[in-house]
Amino acid sequence: MTVRVPAKVNLQLSVGPPRDDGYHDLVNVFHAVSLFDEVTASDAPAGSGGAAVTVSVEGQYAGQVPLDGENLAVKAALALAERAGRPLGARLLIRKAIPVAGGMAGGSADAAATLVACDELWGLGLPRQELMEIAAALGSDVPFALLGGTAVGTGRGEKLTTVSVTGDFHWVFALAAGGLSTAEVYAECDRMREASGERAAWPQASQTLMTALEAGDAETLGKALLNDLQPAALMLCRPLVRTLEAGRNHGALGALVSGSGPTCAFLAGSEAKATALAAALDAAGVCRSAVTARGPVPGATIVRADR
Ligand code: C5P
Repeated sequence: MTVRVPAKVNLQLSVGPPRDDGYHDLVNVFHAVSLFDEVTASDAPAGSGGAAVTVSVEGQYAGQVPLDGENLAVKAALALAERAGRPLGARLLIRKAIPVAGGMAGGSADAAATLVACDELWGLGLPRQELMEIAAALGSDVPFALLGGTAVGTGRGEKLTTVSVTGDFHWVFALAAGGLSTAEVYAECDRMREASGERAAWPQASQTLMTALEAGDAETLGKALLNDLQPAALMLCRPLVRTLEAGRNHGALGALVSGSGPTCAFLAGSEAKATALAAALDAAGVCRSAVTARGPVPGATIVRADR
């Protein structure tokens, strides 16, 4: 069973004050883009003591992905087996194209794909709402990877409402050499706010952004892109300042750090302009590589019913 799952970029990431549980209340406008991982789940015997799940990873990021119980896809399969309440087994193969620790929810995407693949492989047929609940327990971004499209996430990002969008938007992603820890970027955001005496406002969805999405107006969307984690990501990874500047200088309609970074996202006016911008960023030497993608695209989807 093979499932394809998209990366995300945050069009608006407004971060409220820290909560007692260590998370932050958000307004998080997720947008799924055509940069995909694939997860194949195959039959395997259950262990003597319960569920047994193994994982292997292919692709350029394979070396950066844990293969033990820390792997979010393994956690997803085990959580699903627990919900099924019987011993089950699966072998997972992840083909990774989404950068690891890149602010594009690659690990969350793999977890979402695994839920869909194993639900089908094991013939569980769980209702979407139940998969969504398991997804939310695995991580704040996992439910959106199931849903796809464009959606506003509130709470810690897991309570989703679909946003209506006209047409396609064209993106360039400047991939960085290393990764950033999401938890560290949130902590840096809190620290910077405390140091400057800034009180975090209660997050609100930007009406300008919503109207631009509904109208398919890339120019207005470009100006409305907003990420409260960006100052913290730039503090932890200074070279990104130059990356963002290079994209703006080469005609991007908007430029921002994707989620907790270090990937930078640029909105382009057309597919041709995105291709030209990616070439310009590559030539400027301000990122490891630049790739183009379009959004919105659907969430985790079965592409092959092989076993
Ligand atoms: O939910 P997830 O495990 O993906 O979150 C990773 C980390 O990001 C959390 O441990 C927390 O430090 C931070 N986070 C947060 N507020 C959110 C989502 C994530 O502080 N709404």
